[in-house]
Amino acid sequence: MPNVPDPVRENARLVNEAIDGRLPLGGLRVHEAAEHLLTAGGKRLRPALLMLVADAFGRSPRDTVPPALAVEITHSFTLIHDDVMDDDPLRRGEESVHKRWDVPTAILTGDYLYSKAFETALKTDATDATMRRVMETLAETCTLICEGQALDVEYAEADTVSEDDYLRMVELKTGVLFAASTGIGALVSESGIFDEAYGYGLRIGKAFQIHDDVLDLVGESGDLGKTRASDLFEGKNTLVTLHARRNGVDPSLPHDASDAEVEAKVEEIREAGSIGYARERAETLVDGAKDDLDALPEGEPRDALAEVADYLVRRDY
Ligand code: IPE
Ligand code: IPE
Ligand code: MG
Ligand code: MG
Ligand code: MG
Repeated sequence: MPNVPDPVRENARLVNEAIDGRLPLGGLRVHEAAEHLLTAGGKRLRPALLMLVADAFGRSPRDTVPPALAVEITHSFTLIHDDVMDDDPLRRGEESVHKRWDVPTAILTGDYLYSKAFETALKTDATDATMRRVMETLAETCTLICEGQALDVEYAEADTVSEDDYLRMVELKTGVLFAASTGIGALVSESGIFDEAYGYGLRIGKAFQIHDDVLDLVGESGDLGKTRASDLFEGKNTLVTLHARRNGVDPSLPHDASDAEVEAKVEEIREAGSIGYARERAETLVDGAKDDLDALPEGEPRDALAEVADYLVRRDY
């Protein structure tokens, strides 16, 4: 199990048990590929966040496994398609699905998990009115993620991208799934604070992605379980590369760059202050997110949510 804060680990265990209990899915290649990703590890941050918010309002984590699993399965679908789009051969330390099998299998497995997420969410124990809001949140979130991923691809080819463009893209491709997780946690516990929970999730989700972009450069490939500097090879615009460009550093790398060339480029970017700049922006978002938690009752789950927010921008992978 990855090195995550204890409250995440405890909830992640319930999610992993639920995944194991549902596998094997069947004998088709899509089933095998889905199992390959779902059991390859993963920090299970989004389901843990859902469970912690619900727990803050007295709904036990065991009761919220179905919606928690639904957001993790949604996440899995985006990862499989993301690796095709980013041409990434590694995910969670294993070969990515399109690499191990092929692109048609990755498309289908992503689609399969996408609909599985909704089937799973329908198993939530909730009133009809709450269920409707849960399904609505999940559906809208998937639409927004696709829009964010579309911007990610378009921006890699655009002449000019502003920080605001980047922040909007990050909100859509990553922030909204964190927000849906915490928001659904608020819904299934009938807490009445959907907006505050959603706001907290959105901020930490954006901070999480900014930090992911930092880790892409400074992380160890072995720890990350993904290819280092993928964003530079793919010409992605991030807070780091936008800052670097503004400060006269060209952050791009040719596809055949050696490890030493990657290292030298990262050093140049670091010296321009671009990594420190992005880190600070992520931390500011986390500070704001922790203020949103005032809407939750005091107690262990709320403390854990503050701890997770800090962890998201300090983690090494
Ligand atoms: C990776 O998310 C995808 C991004 C949104 C950056 P995680 O870092 O949560 O991935 P796993 O689930 O732990 O593998
Ligand atoms: C991922 O962003 C966003 C989604 C999966 C929706 P990245 O492309 O930066 O994620 P990693 O680094 O491949 O995990
Ligand atoms: Mg990617
Ligand atoms: Mg991507
Ligand atoms: Mg990344």
